[in-house]
Amino acid sequence: MIRVKTEEEISLLKESCAIVRDCLAFVGEHIRAGMTTKEVDTLVYEFITGRDAVPSCLGYYGYPASACVSVNEVVVHGIPGDRVLEEGDIVSVDLCAYKNGFHGDGARTFCIGKVSPEREKLVRVTEECFFQGIEGLKAGTPLYDIGYRVQQHAEANGFSVIRSYTGHGIGREMHEDPSVPNYGRRGTGVRLEAGTVICIEPMIAAGGYRVRVLGDGWTAVTADGKSAAHYENTVVIREDGVEILTL
Ligand code: MF3
Ligand code: CO
Repeated sequence: MIRVKTEEEISLLKESCAIVRDCLAFVGEHIRAGMTTKEVDTLVYEFITGRDAVPSCLGYYGYPASACVSVNEVVVHGIPGDRVLEEGDIVSVDLCAYKNGFHGDGARTFCIGKVSPEREKLVRVTEECFFQGIEGLKAGTPLYDIGYRVQQHAEANGFSVIRSYTGHGIGREMHEDPSVPNYGRRGTGVRLEAGTVICIEPMIAAGGYRVRVLGDGWTAVTADGKSAAHYENTVVIREDGVEILTL
């Protein structure tokens, strides 16, 4: 069941989302070669708690960190640890902040120093996939139009769309209905109502879309070991378009 938000709820969501937005920018300013993924997580923890918010990921189904830090072949849910970031890596940082009863959620993929042309293109196209996904999106749009557009753009660029993870609704819970796949058939799915708040998060792979989860139960890597990228924003559906809350 999709829980459509009131304007009052949306103004609270905006505060959580502003923290996510600012935290992602802060990480972007500080992330660099030589840092461990754990150090990236510490930046996130300090930033979010410093804004009197709670990192929603910490303890979520036992998740042991404040952010997901996913390097190269890691698609999503990379657990921060001892891995040292190197020049040429692409690193997705995904984080959620909880404040006043509402969650905000966003992710960016950062390039560490100079990266290969293929990785650079993958990061760019993944970000473009998000913007393709929201193109023309407004009240009344069928849900799977989003995924249709994301998939068209990814595949037109020779990349593939991860199937086993999706975007989602958000609000008082970090994951609410609906599930927002990054693939789909145009003109299908529920028609989105104004006031619906969703996270649109293309996860795009340079090779095949198959993933495997490591023994830690979280870390999702591409089955073929090729790179993947991730880009996410929380958006509100409006009568005449969308409002992006984490940008
Ligand atoms: N931010 C992630 C999402 O987009 C959620 C991961 S938090 C974790 O859904 F705890 F599950 F890792
Ligand atoms: Co999300």
